[in-house]
Amino acid sequence: MQAGLREELLAALRLQIDWGVDEALEAAPLDRFAAPVVHPDPAPTAAIATPGLQAPALLAPALLAAALPAIATPAALATGRAAEAGSLEALRAAIAETDSPLRDTATNLVFADGVAESGLMLIGEAPGADEDRLGRPFVGVSGQLLDRMMASIGLERSKNFYLTNILPWRPPGNRTPTDGEIALFLPFLLRHITLVRPRHILLLGGTPAKSLLRAKDGITRLRGRWHSLPMEQGAIPALPTLHPAYLLRSPAAKREAWADLVLLRRTIDGEVAAG
Ligand code: URA
Repeated sequence: MQAGLREELLAALRLQIDWGVDEALEAAPLDRFAAPVVHPDPAPTAAIATPGLQAPALLAPALLAAALPAIATPAALATGRAAEAGSLEALRAAIAETDSPLRDTATNLVFADGVAESGLMLIGEAPGADEDRLGRPFVGVSGQLLDRMMASIGLERSKNFYLTNILPWRPPGNRTPTDGEIALFLPFLLRHITLVRPRHILLLGGTPAKSLLRAKDGITRLRGRWHSLPMEQGAIPALPTLHPAYLLRSPAAKREAWADLVLLRRTIDGEVAAG
């Protein structure tokens, strides 16, 4: 290959990586020009994809209605599996067994890190590239900042806190989790909290804050004060704060994050009440 052409192709590849195209979804390239064109079917019948068939098989509405009660939704299946998990190991296995397009594109399941018995649980959004590669939450640059922030209030990952995320699998290209993905994995996260029984929870960023507190407000309105997270075993105080990745992009916001950390430390020490 000529050197000029090679450089051009490499530059195009670099640009794609910069734009977030960092996952090869198929082992072999797919020639979409050679693929058959599928026209939408205007017939008033419901289509159900049947494994092994090229085109979807068609079910008459009456047959579909009869079959529906037997088809458990992925969210219902997840809720059942999560409820059955009696230990963190069982929960991890249940998540690993749950079908999700995210599981197909990720490399490693990112379950948790730190000390489950510490009494403090940190909940982030979703694994990034480094977390996906190593199978541990918050090990990339934002994780390193998080460790420094926690160390500034005297808390270490190896002794004083436990970490997990809303999603256990990395969304391709680090995109924001969809509502469907959050809904699918929320029963596992709730079970995770029930099994760990933390005394305090720190919610890192808008996604965990909104999903767990069922809040409409954004993180800038939610942060800075304790909220109550209703759980089976009783309410747990939860403090939303800014995500470390946001702090890397907006260093001026570190002031607010610092105030949240001081509040966390003073609450843990019993100097102020959570709520
Ligand atoms: N951001 C998150 O929210 N979680 C991680 O594990 C890493 C980055």
